[in-house]
Amino acid sequence: MKKKLIFSGIRATGRLHLGNYLGMVKGMLQLQEDEKYQLLFSVVDIHAMTTPYDKDKLSQQTYDVVLDYLACGLDPEKSLLLVQSKVGDLHAELAFYFSTVMTVARMQHLPTFKEKIKQHPDNVTMALLNYPVLMAADILVYHSELVPVGIDQEPHLEVTREVARKMNSLYGLDFPEPVRFATKGGKVPSLVGEGKMSKSVGGSFINLTDDLETIEKRLASAPTDSGKGEIVPISGGVANLLTFVELFQGEGRRKKYEELYLGEGIRYGDLKNELAEAIYAELKPIQEKRAELEKNPDYVRQVIDAGAKKAREIASKTLKEVKERMGLV
Ligand code: TRP
Repeated sequence: MKKKLIFSGIRATGRLHLGNYLGMVKGMLQLQEDEKYQLLFSVVDIHAMTTPYDKDKLSQQTYDVVLDYLACGLDPEKSLLLVQSKVGDLHAELAFYFSTVMTVARMQHLPTFKEKIKQHPDNVTMALLNYPVLMAADILVYHSELVPVGIDQEPHLEVTREVARKMNSLYGLDFPEPVRFATKGGKVPSLVGEGKMSKSVGGSFINLTDDLETIEKRLASAPTDSGKGEIVPISGGVANLLTFVELFQGEGRRKKYEELYLGEGIRYGDLKNELAEAIYAELKPIQEKRAELEKNPDYVRQVIDAGAKKAREIASKTLKEVKERMGLV
């Protein structure tokens, strides 16, 4: 049986937070043991260059995500770990060929593009416009079929499928039409009361590298209420705290707090202390593994190089075929 390839890409914007971990990485890593799938975890560092970035920090940020993947349990014997720029020549070359079948108008209409040009009106570059085409190349160069990303990335997957269809019909290629893949994880709420945990919203996240004290501090500023009422809130700060309780302490504990809320009242100080300890208990082994890896840069380099080598083998086959079919050789 042919394994289905799952391609996951995380942008190189520094360390992972709890939302990345529970929302995606943890669920993905559970699939490592499943014979049906081959996993490819990538750090997409070239994508980081599509908006203003710090060249002196990029390689460290990339390395940090690599360490986080490994610390969370990515097993390089089972899964492929890829730093995108290590095979950047092939990804970028394929993206160029793909760009011949996508119009400028199509790319300009993407909601992600419109949002980015609002954020960076002075940096509306060719690279930014081409972001989704490069993403299509990341995915299709390995003939990946499943892509675990958030709903916000759906327009990019539509572009990917469109590219695949066009390349297949114009050039007789056999690219799959990849679909979004939901892992078990689920949404991790923000600590500030609204929305999901996000790197770009200050105060909303807990880093995988936070110690107990830091987690306590971050939870301390999460919004609460008087602690009791007629109905348990379904949105806002308290609802989010209860989601955290469920995620880290189980459904039973959540029920208990719900009863308290409807009765004698929740003491948020106690809730937050208990919760901080439960979160830290989950993060501690990851942090220990990370510390060990930090002492072993040679091993990490070796994993990066081995991943790049394997990826290159697969990607060059695709490129060879695409070039032939497109009339290049
Ligand atoms: N655009 C994705 C994001 O912002 C990152 C990404 C780039 C990606 N290439 C990818 C994700 C390929 C999945 C597959 O999250």
